[in-house]
Amino acid sequence: MMPESRWLGRCLLAARVEISISCVVIRGRIGTKVLNPGIHQLNRPTLRPERPFFSSGPCAKRPGWSPDALRGALLGRSHRSADGLGRLREVLSLSRALLQLPGDYRLAIVPGSDTGAMEMAMWSLLGARGVDLLAWESFGLGWVHDVKSELKLRDVRVHQADYGRLPDLGRVDCNRDVVFTWNGTTSGVRVPHGDWIADDRQGLTLCDATSAVFAMALPWPKLDVVTYSWQKVLGGEAAHGMLILSPRAVARLESHAPPWPLPKLFRLLKQGKLDEEIFKGHTINTPSMLCVEDQLDALKWAASIGGVPELIARSERNLAVVASWVERTPWIDFLAERPETRSCTSVCLKFTDPWFTRQSLEERWRVVKQLCRLLEAEQVAYDIAAHRDAPPGLRLWCGATVDAADVMNLLPWIAWAYNRLKTGA
Ligand SMILES: Cc1ncc(COP(=O)(O)O)c(C=O)c1O
Repeated sequence: MMPESRWLGRCLLAARVEISISCVVIRGRIGTKVLNPGIHQLNRPTLRPERPFFSSGPCAKRPGWSPDALRGALLGRSHRSADGLGRLREVLSLSRALLQLPGDYRLAIVPGSDTGAMEMAMWSLLGARGVDLLAWESFGLGWVHDVKSELKLRDVRVHQADYGRLPDLGRVDCNRDVVFTWNGTTSGVRVPHGDWIADDRQGLTLCDATSAVFAMALPWPKLDVVTYSWQKVLGGEAAHGMLILSPRAVARLESHAPPWPLPKLFRLLKQGKLDEEIFKGHTINTPSMLCVEDQLDALKWAASIGGVPELIARSERNLAVVASWVERTPWIDFLAERPETRSCTSVCLKFTDPWFTRQSLEERWRVVKQLCRLLEAEQVAYDIAAHRDAPPGLRLWCGATVDAADVMNLLPWIAWAYNRLKTGA
């Protein structure tokens, strides 16, 4: 057996090598080109991510989170009491302030997480004019299905692209309603900006921005409906959705009566007018006050570190760490083909090595699953397999609650696991 002092010495040496590699990665972003931890990482790394939580939802809690954050939760009390309503209103006001929503935009907490918010918007608003649907991964395709096959709208145009690409945004007609995701969570492809959305549009833009809000700059005046869930960028809990409406969306709500029945959970009108109370914290049904407390904690953390600019910077830093590694690692690449479309939250990677690509689809998934199992067994990464509808690969959540040091310390482990599977070592 190795004497303890020698073993410790080896560990320290390995740690020093990894620290210098990490420094290289950081410096790599400003142009220094040196070592590559990814190419021949055959030795088992010794540094580990402190928080191996890279799931794309529910996403990592904020740094330093513990259940203590929920100690002051208003449990066993009515959400309609003055205290309960106060907490719900605080979620609304903190969210509004952080996001710097235009003063005339409405914001509400709604049931059913992001899906609930998006369905509520589509079922309430669509049908008044033709719809352009954009889809480049499974969530966008889900909205296409709902509009075409559930709402059965006839005047529908679908702009679709394969995983890794965006459809041609220049072909979108903003005089029709437009439904799209800002960030395609399962392909790691985002729209780079909102310049393709006309300021003088006649239609409404309905944007599922659940994996973008708080991590990407959103051009509010271009967006009439925005939806997201607490479970994503701020690491809150699922089940509650957020619905943001522009004045034009409200005007549509009040002037258009959909031909289909609307369940109570979707109803935003009262006697033909917007039910303003919903947007003042009077939720349609009962929210979880535990989740509300958790969201308040997340929002206060976000404000304490500098608000959305810092949340965006944290996500972009994480993306830069991955990009620097990908650039110097020949067997892996982003699924997103164009750099400006690469997501800084759901970072999707594909293996480009012929050893991998020439295998059958089933075999490739088997490799991905084995790799993820190895990393889980080492407790260095949880839940980083690509979404089941995407091509076999990896998806690392790099949103604002994830620390760059953890991303940095994860990458050599991916290289180690990949090389192990490839060489059968
Ligand atoms: C783009 C997108 N839309 C919708 C959803 C569904 O969100 P939820 O499960 O919070 O309703 C997700 C979840 O990952 C998503 O990424």
